[in-house]
Amino acid sequence: MKDVKKRIEALRREIRRHDELYYVHHAPEISDREYDRLFAELKELETEHPDLITAASPTQRVSERPVEGFGSVRHTIPMLSVDNTYNEQALREFDKRVSKGLEGAAYAYAAELKIDGLAISLRYEKGLLVRAATRGDGRTGDDVTANIRTIRAIPLDLADGPDVLEVRGEVYMPKRAFAALNTERVEAGKPEFANPRNAAAGSLKLLDARITARRKLAFFAYSLGEVSRRLAETHYESMQKLKALGLPVNEHIRPCAGIEEVIAYCRDWADRKAGLDYQIDGVVIKVDRYDQQDMLGVTGRAPRWCISYKFAAEQAETVVESIDVQVGKTGTLTPVANLRPVKLAGTTVKRASLHNFDLVAKLDVRCGDTVIIEKAGEIIPQVMAVKEKNRDLFKSRPFDVPRQCPVCGGPVKKDENGVYLRCVNLQCPAQLRERLEYFAGKGQMDIEKLGPALIDQLVSQGLVKNFADLYRLRFDQLAGLERMADKSAANVLESIERSKRRPLWRLIAGLGIRNVGGQSAQILADEFGTLEALMKAPVERLESIDQIGPVMARSLYEYLHNADTARVIEALIEAGVRPEAGQARTSDALKGLSIVVTGTLKHFTRQEIQQAIKANGGRSSSAVSQRTDLVVAGENAGSKLDKARQLGVEVIDEEAFIRRIGGGD
Ligand code: IVH
Repeated sequence: MKDVKKRIEALRREIRRHDELYYVHHAPEISDREYDRLFAELKELETEHPDLITAASPTQRVSERPVEGFGSVRHTIPMLSVDNTYNEQALREFDKRVSKGLEGAAYAYAAELKIDGLAISLRYEKGLLVRAATRGDGRTGDDVTANIRTIRAIPLDLADGPDVLEVRGEVYMPKRAFAALNTERVEAGKPEFANPRNAAAGSLKLLDARITARRKLAFFAYSLGEVSRRLAETHYESMQKLKALGLPVNEHIRPCAGIEEVIAYCRDWADRKAGLDYQIDGVVIKVDRYDQQDMLGVTGRAPRWCISYKFAAEQAETVVESIDVQVGKTGTLTPVANLRPVKLAGTTVKRASLHNFDLVAKLDVRCGDTVIIEKAGEIIPQVMAVKEKNRDLFKSRPFDVPRQCPVCGGPVKKDENGVYLRCVNLQCPAQLRERLEYFAGKGQMDIEKLGPALIDQLVSQGLVKNFADLYRLRFDQLAGLERMADKSAANVLESIERSKRRPLWRLIAGLGIRNVGGQSAQILADEFGTLEALMKAPVERLESIDQIGPVMARSLYEYLHNADTARVIEALIEAGVRPEAGQARTSDALKGLSIVVTGTLKHFTRQEIQQAIKANGGRSSSAVSQRTDLVVAGENAGSKLDKARQLGVEVIDEEAFIRRIGGGD
């Protein structure tokens, strides 16, 4: 027991150290796999010894229970706002005010990036994160502790530090995570987020922390609130101390001797900001010494010692040459503006998504119009407004919402929630190309040699009309394609062949069923084991699975029972696709039961018995409570067995367990 406790503590320290190396120092020492292995070991030990679980354990970041609403938190020290400036002259005037306020004393600044996210206060008491709150109106904010705990960049405990330490900073969504989230949302028929800040704010407002946990949020600390003792005499030094305590502080913070140095910093970052993986909208400048900050004080709602310099939103003006409609893998029709090429934030922009037809109507954008474009999260160009309507009054008409798919001419339908238009013809070549590309992608069937150019050829030659056709391709068909050498044709066939034995979840994910991503595919593969079993499941059975909601269950059921898609799945099996089985459910003997295992077992390891519980429809849980249905007790069972007896929960031994699940004689 003592050894277990030691091992658990060592694992926690190790995981915390790797989180810090990754999120604070950007210098990871181990691979994701090795990290996952440490995590799995800790999780397993904690399942066996739930009495050793602590709130600060890295396994306790994500709360399984959704909340009903957010409580409010009063900020003991108000979270002030900051005055904005937009030009260098205004910065020099700010400096004059500072100089006057400090009555000629020497002073210096700290300049730092203004991260485009939302302000959060984190309260640590005796080193433990006890509360996280939004800024709200500056005096009272929302308690978002459960959601903030899911952010791995934020430590749940600190090795050291004052008794009370309130850290303030910005929660943000990295640009890459923002782009991926929006792609996912379009595929699921949900509206996109306009920029990373809205995406971060939306993610913190979710009532279910399990969803927030998937949103890849991050954090930078940039100031202190209530503290039981000051960390240092200056802001810059305090930030270095926070970093040493394990909190992420932006590495580009700079001490500046005077306002001209600050201005050089602002100019520099206006040029370099496109290269960062997070969006910044300016620079924040602070008088560095705390005693001087106090001397300058606060006017109304903003401090006199701090100012922000906002970059002008990078915009460009160009002309819409034409408007195309693109068709995605689930048939979503997206209007895209082809633009006269223009430079914007480091790249030449030729196209901009118009997102959906409601937006086209709202902007009333037409061919030939001069438009203003901007980049959302500095990556995705979008049309913000029509500047000049260079229109031929006789010919010009609003852009028509397509009544047919522009590629296959098939029928189109508006999504349930009314945002997107979809082509409903599953044979549509545009959709087919996208679906095949996804199917062959790295996260799915991983058919390395089947790239977009080859898929294009196969579809336009009519050689591939569905996933199953890939597995029926012959050497002579491939070798007959333009620019395809015999050797390459053989390689393509080999890489297709290899994909036949991928794990089941990859195949399920590869089908590109609406709302069913990789994670859900893994849950489904574990639950059913084979494609055949999944296809037989009634919709109620799909809905009953933990983490598969009714929307996903319905779209999955519809997919599996649509005559065309069901035929393709059968053809895949016929063509020799034999995915490696997932962990199949073997019986319903323990259906719906919450089961606790305790003591030393003879016939199973802990992992094996947990798998057996799951495979027979039960749920294994770590602590005995009113809700426990059954306790399996091995030898030397201790306090859990006592508790079970106290509560009158049924207790059985290993042999009885084996009989229940239909094993033994
Ligand atoms: S300092 C009294 N520093 O910009 C000083 N704010 O300040 C408090 N922001 O809503 C703010 N990056 O959420 C500060 N490095 C930074 C910042 C920063 C982003 C946000 C903050 C606030 C807004 C105006």
